[in-house]
Amino acid sequence: MSSGSTADLFDLTGRRAIVTGGAGLLGRVFARALLDVGAEVHHLDRDEGRLEEVLAALPDDLRRRAVAVRCDLTDEDDVEATVAALARQGRIDILVNSAAIDPKFDGTAAGGAGPDAPDDGHLTRYPVDRWRQSLEVNLTGVFLITRSVCRVMQTQGERGEGTVVNLCSTYGLVGPDQRIYDGAPTPFFKPVDYSVTKAGLLGFTRAVASLYRDSGIRVNALSPGGAFDDHDPAFVAAYSYRTITGRMADPDEYRGAIAFLCSDASSYMTGANLVVDGGWTAL
Ligand SMILES: NC(=O)c1ccc[n+]([C@@H]2O[C@H](COP(=O)([O-])OP(=O)(O)OC[C@H]3O[C@@H](n4cnc5c(N)ncnc54)[C@H](O)[C@@H]3O)[C@@H](O)[C@H]2O)c1
Repeated sequence: MSSGSTADLFDLTGRRAIVTGGAGLLGRVFARALLDVGAEVHHLDRDEGRLEEVLAALPDDLRRRAVAVRCDLTDEDDVEATVAALARQGRIDILVNSAAIDPKFDGTAAGGAGPDAPDDGHLTRYPVDRWRQSLEVNLTGVFLITRSVCRVMQTQGERGEGTVVNLCSTYGLVGPDQRIYDGAPTPFFKPVDYSVTKAGLLGFTRAVASLYRDSGIRVNALSPGGAFDDHDPAFVAAYSYRTITGRMADPDEYRGAIAFLCSDASSYMTGANLVVDGGWTAL
């Protein structure tokens, strides 16, 4: 526990972090936030090309503490080898589980209606392969890397030390409001597996947190609302109406929440879920 100033509570100088999905829209923002407050950040993703782009876009002083790690979270051997290699180099203080399959509305969904129409995300037309792929990444992938990293964290310090943050979603707390996709040029439904896996991760968060009672290992969830990513204006208007803030989030607005959860600023918090959603779930 830090005894310095309040600002010192957020200081991650000397800490080593893994951010899975570190090439993603929010994943890169989480990684950047941790770099900003001093951590060494391993951006883990299966998309090597996008990882290179993300690291190349960093200012020189931050890039020196940023590392690209190509890994497929659904491959047990790959995950074990990746974590073992990192552990040989030193501690692992922070794990941010951000990688996910998150089918996003972009106006290009396959259209149709009725049970034989093309897949548009609706339950009745949803292929079991997509369901399985989502569970494989969003739940099994999180399980695999958390298991490996916790084996390392529990050897650190006298009673184990480390912080895990699982990325959930408003859609794991309440059902998707399918009305906001009504303006799509072709029908789009937010698939059920997204809600199922994000709700499941909340259970995972509480269960893993409870295993580490009386220790220095904390496990929390962060549930963001929708971040603006050049969506079309009709969608932005429909989304914004469902919030109290009256707008979508700027991805940068999640930097404070991740810095809080990964640092000593949240030292008395474990097994909890931090909701940052512009008031969506308060209505
Ligand atoms: N973007 C939002 O508006 C929003 C809102 C609420 C919650 N979330 C959650 O926040 C997290 C981050 O969202 P995002 O916008 O960065 O998502 P994203 O889709 O932009 O990025 C996900 C990343 O995960 C990686 N990935 C997928 N499968 C992988 C695998 N098997 N192994 C390794 N990497 C893999 C992808 O390559 C990608 O870079 C997700 O868990 C998402 O569900 C996002």
